[in-house]
Amino acid sequence: MRSVGAVIEFRDYSFSYLGGNRAVLDLIDLKIERGEIVILAGPTGCGKSTLLRSINGLIPHMYPGDRKGSVLVDGLDVALTPMSKIAEKVGFVFQNPENQIFMFSVERDIAFALENLAMPRNEIRERVSWAMNLLDIAHLAKTAPHELSDGQKQRVAIAGVLAMKPSVLILDEPTSLLDPKTASQLVSTVNQLHDSLNITIIVVEHRLDLLAGIATRILIMQDGTIRLDGPPREVLSKREAELAGIGIPTVTRLYTLLRQSGLSIGQPPLSPHELAELLRVKPND
Ligand SMILES: Nc1ncnc2c1ncn2[C@@H]1O[C@H](COP(=O)(O)OP(=O)(O)OP(=O)(O)O)[C@@H](O)[C@H]1O
Ligand SMILES: [Mg+2]
Repeated sequence: MRSVGAVIEFRDYSFSYLGGNRAVLDLIDLKIERGEIVILAGPTGCGKSTLLRSINGLIPHMYPGDRKGSVLVDGLDVALTPMSKIAEKVGFVFQNPENQIFMFSVERDIAFALENLAMPRNEIRERVSWAMNLLDIAHLAKTAPHELSDGQKQRVAIAGVLAMKPSVLILDEPTSLLDPKTASQLVSTVNQLHDSLNITIIVVEHRLDLLAGIATRILIMQDGTIRLDGPPREVLSKREAELAGIGIPTVTRLYTLLRQSGLSIGQPPLSPHELAELLRVKPND
């Protein structure tokens, strides 16, 4: 059954860790609609991972602290829902896939969470092969995780959470351990997953130039609040984005400089290719 409306909703939500003397998240009001691809950015310590933990239930189920307001996922209040139930709705991929890959083979690993749910064997087999095909890792089914490259491990971790058929896929800095080529392959894969599954995706990412082209929305956090929120073109060309200490993509920066020097060239580009197009179309405006 598909519910309409926001898949994730923060209602006047604040959180401080036990023993911490300040609110790490401060009165967050946020709705994320089904099918969005959201980039979450902001300087280190601003509360990105804490926001994600509040969606996947690690807060409050594993991290104690002071909480006000509520977070709903698919209409369920995270604080009142068991972690196992949330895990069926929210697939969470950690920064380091080693933290979530621990079985002897890729296929056993992907099956692990489904086995824990006591799902029938044929259903498990079907889902594991579906997820491996989606991530293009079927040829690695019998391989031991320690023999995989970092990019392959990342794919196994994503396949493992997608096998649960969640409504939301969350990736916390998925490219930070990957070389540039593997990182951009991962971004294409994320985009394809989004298109074929119409799944909601939230990604914490510092390399905005990698993801801005596929995102529907960027949230920029600062000191526990959401400072900017909107489509990538809009957010990245705002002056506050630059001040927020995030890595503005070079093309956006160049575009802003050109505008400041009096060249009016349409809407902000998100890739070098788009910038080249803009300059070709209106060189003398
Ligand atoms: N388990 C914890 N206990 C106490 N304080 C914590 C805990 N985890 C994070 N914090 C504090 O909460 C604040 C926000 O941390 P968080 O990890 O959410 O930031 P972040 O935006 O994800 O940073 P980064 O970009 O470095 O990953 C920081 O001041 C951090 O020290
Ligand atoms: Mg973090």
